[in-house]
Amino acid sequence: MIDLRTDTVTQPTDGMRAAIASAVVGDEQKGEDPTTAELEGRVADLLGKQAAVFVPSATMANQIALQLWARPGDSVVASADAHLIKSEAGGPAALAGLMLQPISTVDGTFDDIQLTAAIAEGGVETPRTAVVSVENSHSNAGGRVWPLERLDQMLATAAHRGIRVHLDGARLLNAALYRDVPPARIAAGSDSVTLCLSKGLGCPLGALLALPAAAVSDARRVKQRLGGAMRQSGVLAAAGLYALDHHVRRLADDHHRAQRLADILQGTGMVSGRVETNVVLLDTHAIGRTSEALRSQLAAEGVLVSAVPRPGMLRAVTHLDVGDDDIEFAGNVIARTITS
Ligand SMILES: Cc1ncc(COP(=O)(O)O)c(C=O)c1O
Repeated sequence: MIDLRTDTVTQPTDGMRAAIASAVVGDEQKGEDPTTAELEGRVADLLGKQAAVFVPSATMANQIALQLWARPGDSVVASADAHLIKSEAGGPAALAGLMLQPISTVDGTFDDIQLTAAIAEGGVETPRTAVVSVENSHSNAGGRVWPLERLDQMLATAAHRGIRVHLDGARLLNAALYRDVPPARIAAGSDSVTLCLSKGLGCPLGALLALPAAAVSDARRVKQRLGGAMRQSGVLAAAGLYALDHHVRRLADDHHRAQRLADILQGTGMVSGRVETNVVLLDTHAIGRTSEALRSQLAAEGVLVSAVPRPGMLRAVTHLDVGDDDIEFAGNVIARTITS
């Protein structure tokens, strides 16, 4: 079975398991886990922020950020199919009392004019727009990466309006690779950044929230409240450090394989949008199929893909456990299935 549903399905490698086994650990909640502290420092440097807090998931990192930057009744601007809106179980409303102000997008990005239009303006009757959340790369839009100029203009507008910016950079390293810039370049101008370890980096779980030093104690308090404080989390942090040493440059392999899959399928007319990172969006309506039927047919042929919250769209995602031969196999299966 070739599993292209998402990049979270990877198994820890032998090297990562060895790093986990030899990790030096302590009680993280008490600030006594040296390996977690090392990972937090390393990621803060990588993202150009003063500090970082290790948490169990990118979902929690996003939710902590919202609670830092907004008060109940405030609104959060994000692309309409951002993970924050579609896949965090209503966390912004349930956990932080926030309203969502979605912006419809094609590629997951929006500009300063769209942001301005989404900002609530008026008197006491309007919710205060407190945060804009930027997802980069954007998963449901097909792993698309914000153009730097568009990002910078949008950030300048947010700063001018006194709106905090959270970067959901679960796949920021994919975005940085595609743009050929350091991750800190993309993170510059954001107040907080989520970086996920369990996607292209191949860790079993874990994420970091990078942020200003002054916000760390509040972030740790919210983390505790959400049940995210850990004990001997060095076993997970060791996996993260290993991934930063061994799994960053290889993200290029995932990007090439996604492009190769798109190339195999190019003639079918079902590849939607540009492939920029490790995601290929497949438009089943364009070939007169429904996504559910095609998904089941492909599964029966040994290729797993997943649905995204866009009508008729499926996605195929490359990752650490997918090789060149797997892509050739999957591409040929998809091409054959849709013509049969
Ligand atoms: C863009 C984005 N943000 C956040 C998350 C949440 O990650 P986690 O599974 O670590 O909570 C995901 C997971 O797929 C994601 O794609």
